[in-house]
Amino acid sequence: MKRFKQAKDIKVGVIGYGGAFNMGRGHLREMMHAGMTPTAVVDVDKERLKVAQEDFPGIETYASVSEMLRKSDVHLLAIITPHNTHAKLAIQCLNAGRHVVCEKPFAITTAECDAMIAAAKKNKVMLSTYHNRHWDGCILQALKTIRSGAIGDVVRVEAHGGGYGKPGDWWRSSKSISGGILYDWGVHMLEYMLQIVNSEIVEVTGFAKTGFWAPQTAWKEDTNEDEGFAVIRFKNGTWGSLCITQIDSNPKRGMIEVTGTKGSYLFDGGWFEVYTHSGKDTVIRKGQNPPSEWWAFYQNIAEHLTKGTPLVITPEWARRPIHILDLANQSARKGKALPAKYR
Ligand SMILES: NC(=O)c1ccc[n+]([C@@H]2O[C@H](COP(=O)([O-])OP(=O)(O)OC[C@H]3O[C@@H](n4cnc5c(N)ncnc54)[C@H](O)[C@@H]3O)[C@@H](O)[C@H]2O)c1
Repeated sequence: MKRFKQAKDIKVGVIGYGGAFNMGRGHLREMMHAGMTPTAVVDVDKERLKVAQEDFPGIETYASVSEMLRKSDVHLLAIITPHNTHAKLAIQCLNAGRHVVCEKPFAITTAECDAMIAAAKKNKVMLSTYHNRHWDGCILQALKTIRSGAIGDVVRVEAHGGGYGKPGDWWRSSKSISGGILYDWGVHMLEYMLQIVNSEIVEVTGFAKTGFWAPQTAWKEDTNEDEGFAVIRFKNGTWGSLCITQIDSNPKRGMIEVTGTKGSYLFDGGWFEVYTHSGKDTVIRKGQNPPSEWWAFYQNIAEHLTKGTPLVITPEWARRPIHILDLANQSARKGKALPAKYR
């Protein structure tokens, strides 16, 4: 792979400039912060291209990826589109010799991840996934405390998200577009879990409750599951669970609970709680998580492309949570645990 002399030589673009969270603007700003040069924006929605022009006056705008690839010499593209488009658009860009950062989830199936990784290797270009939450303050703090031995050996990691309410009438609630209820926030939580557990994936069992909300949504039969649940068995004897739900009435759960041989560590975005034991008493320590360091993602990408610094989020790393989600989907359909191909 040819190295760039300096970060500003790297011309960057985004595919998808959606209004939901203004992610396109966010990516371009973080890329700029890492020294790279915003050059192009693609969106099938012309109104969003107007917004991009207001945000970055003079930036190239295109209504299709094919047109952009024909006309622009942009080097690195971030794909920020609905989940079921990631693999196809990434492979199109990789085959055109461009470096690619795909938004999470990397893709929907393991086979899609394999095809994307093969395309990056064949074309000798970089492929990564925007796992910005790898640098969330909550996981940075959790890893520091857990790795210090404060809760002993990790035995179990439980991840939980959702609440009680009808899913939105939007692509995130469509099973065929999003991949299912586990894919949006679930992929972030699995990425936390894989860091905490640090062991090989052995097998995955998935469960799904469907149909409760479907009659009340625009998607009807294509509406995401009401609840998705996955249990992951790891080689070192640890197990993890992931539950994302629209039918949970208990408001008191935190996002992640890690149970160790000497205590428990609970966290959500803003706070953490550590429960340990001294004699017969339970000792409770509570605190606020430090700020997130999302800028570190594109800093690493720029250093990889200029100096050859190893990627933190390799495509093989990004494939692991997708493999779990894919196995959970298949397992829920088949009603049995499935062995992992990628450990
Ligand atoms: N990492 C994070 O913290 C984070 C936060 C929010 C969203 N996301 C991810 O970002 C991605 C997009 O989510 P969003 O909230 O921005 O969605 P969105 O619906 O707001 O935006 C998607 C945009 O993609 C455009 N688009 C769709 N197909 C296209 C195509 N073929 N070519 C060009 N443009 C196309 C749409 O017109 C729309 O403007 C998803 O993968 C989502 O999970 C990540």
